Amino acid sequence: MYSAKSSHYDKEANHYDAFNADSSRLINSTVANILKTYDVTTIVDLSCGTGSQVFWLTQLGYEVVGCDINAKMLRIAENNAAAAKLNAAFLKGDMRTVKIGRFDAAITIFNSIGHLTKLDFEKTLRNVANNLNDNGLYIFDIYNLNYLIKGDHITNLTIDWQKLEGNTKIRDIQYSTIDKAGLLCSHTISHVDKGPPSPHISNSSQVMQIYTASQLRKILIRNGFEPLDQTGIDGSSLIESETDRIITTARKK
Ligand SMILES: C[S@@+](CC[C@H](N)C(=O)[O-])C[C@H]1O[C@@H](n2cnc3c(N)ncnc32)[C@H](O)[C@@H]1O
Repeated sequence: MYSAKSSHYDKEANHYDAFNADSSRLINSTVANILKTYDVTTIVDLSCGTGSQVFWLTQLGYEVVGCDINAKMLRIAENNAAAAKLNAAFLKGDMRTVKIGRFDAAITIFNSIGHLTKLDFEKTLRNVANNLNDNGLYIFDIYNLNYLIKGDHITNLTIDWQKLEGNTKIRDIQYSTIDKAGLLCSHTISHVDKGPPSPHISNSSQVMQIYTASQLRKILIRNGFEPLDQTGIDGSSLIESETDRIITTARKK
């Protein structure tokens, strides 16, 4: 059985923002739109990575604490916060077990729960509840299994990203497979080209657990949450086999 390892993002951390900063804007604004319809002041981000949602939401006036299992991602988050002169708190912890306090809302954004086994996701839900005030909100996103399993939709996850960082050319090529149980396997070939004699090329693979919308609702209910809403990551209405990523809002019962 796979499960999250704290080292999972060690290799990706240095180039994570180069490839992900732009694509985070849409989901960050959808998360902000959801939050403003509820009475929320304090938020804990239990998979903050390099801090994308922490920065977005802090700038909107929320009090946000960022937590992540990966020390390298957190170091980048802290450096980004210092560079932006943002007063944000970060700490290292595992969303399955960490106890930080009681917040009005908890978030885990950008497929973070996919790094957990099904059993660990259930354990995480019970731990999220322990970090929430009564009636606290939990907002998270994950790819939609009913979308990825249909036709050749899986090929929509194929990427060939190139970016220039200073004099370094970075290129990530990734392709994925998925099975009916929702195990998404992604294989990545990374080129880091700092000039002659030759680029550094490395391979990596990761497995993520993906869910259907109704599986998510059932798991939430049996772990003490009331599902409130499920939409696409742009806030559009959920269509079972057309919506590629689901954002779910639930309330602690
Ligand atoms: C795709 S990144 C998303 C980061 C950030 N939310 C964003 O949108 O850029 C997933 C993050 O989940 C973190 N993660 C994976 N398993 C975790 C766990 N058990 N506890 C806390 N963080 C975890 C990883 O270290 C990584 O930073």
